[in-house]
Amino acid sequence: MKSIKKAVFPVAGLGTRFLPATKANPKEMLPIVDKPLIQYAAEEAVASGAEVLIFIVGRSKRAIADHFDKAVELEIGLEASGKQQLLEIVREILPPHVACVYIRQSEALGLGHAVLCARPVVGNDPFAVVLADDLINASEQGCLAQMVDVYNEHQRSVLGIERVPHETVNRYGIVDSIPINERLSTINSIVEKPAVGTVSSNAAVVGRYILTPKIFEFLEKIERGAGNEIQLTDAIAKLLESESVFAYEFAGKRFDCGNKLGYLKATVEFALQHPEVKKEFKAYLENTFS
Ligand code: G1P
Repeated sequence: MKSIKKAVFPVAGLGTRFLPATKANPKEMLPIVDKPLIQYAAEEAVASGAEVLIFIVGRSKRAIADHFDKAVELEIGLEASGKQQLLEIVREILPPHVACVYIRQSEALGLGHAVLCARPVVGNDPFAVVLADDLINASEQGCLAQMVDVYNEHQRSVLGIERVPHETVNRYGIVDSIPINERLSTINSIVEKPAVGTVSSNAAVVGRYILTPKIFEFLEKIERGAGNEIQLTDAIAKLLESESVFAYEFAGKRFDCGNKLGYLKATVEFALQHPEVKKEFKAYLENTFS
């Protein structure tokens, strides 16, 4: 059963950690080997059953819309030169049944505000939120598809969770929860970017959420929180008071591609799995660094 048809991609951030690469180019268009981060995110959502991809964009994010659009001149050129394989890659960025919607977030008021901008398109349906910065390498089923299975069983919001070192809890939304089984737990409380040493839990929310539409009621009302931003975490804290929210420790490895080190690690690991370059790249690493 494909129950989550809509996925929201907040992509209005400035990407200052990657300047000057992100001066004119969105950070979500940074490639890991040969695919931009946003395409990995879109593919994960489509694999979980999403059919409407809602991008919350800011200024200078046209490249994202262009990426998912038809590139007529490029296609004509590739066809004329007989580059059939490349033509297919360009044509099959997304399957034909998937639609893209772009909503402009005119002020960068925070993740919660970005998600609220999606309300006119999401309406009264449960939906996914995917942060493309968090790239997840899952061997079989994608992270979001695993979470959709949990949603189908419980019909409640599900947050993707990873254990992080205690000294880094101040970078994440941190949940405290009661275990149901090895991967799943019921959230008791959630706090955005707590100071190190103030929480006992190290269960961090990574950029994968399945939310019931009730979240919008709280997103509309909450005040600015951490970093003076309208925080999705604060709305989830309110949602918890009226319905259960689950934490799910997904199977897979997450790379924080919002910072340079995470981005480099992702590049190396994905290159070592890439059919075209893996063999030579592995040999290069072994010869150079052993
Ligand atoms: C956002 C969320 C945070 C979450 C993180 C995951 O923070 O606000 O709760 O843990 O994404 O990447 P940001 O990284 O945008 O500061």
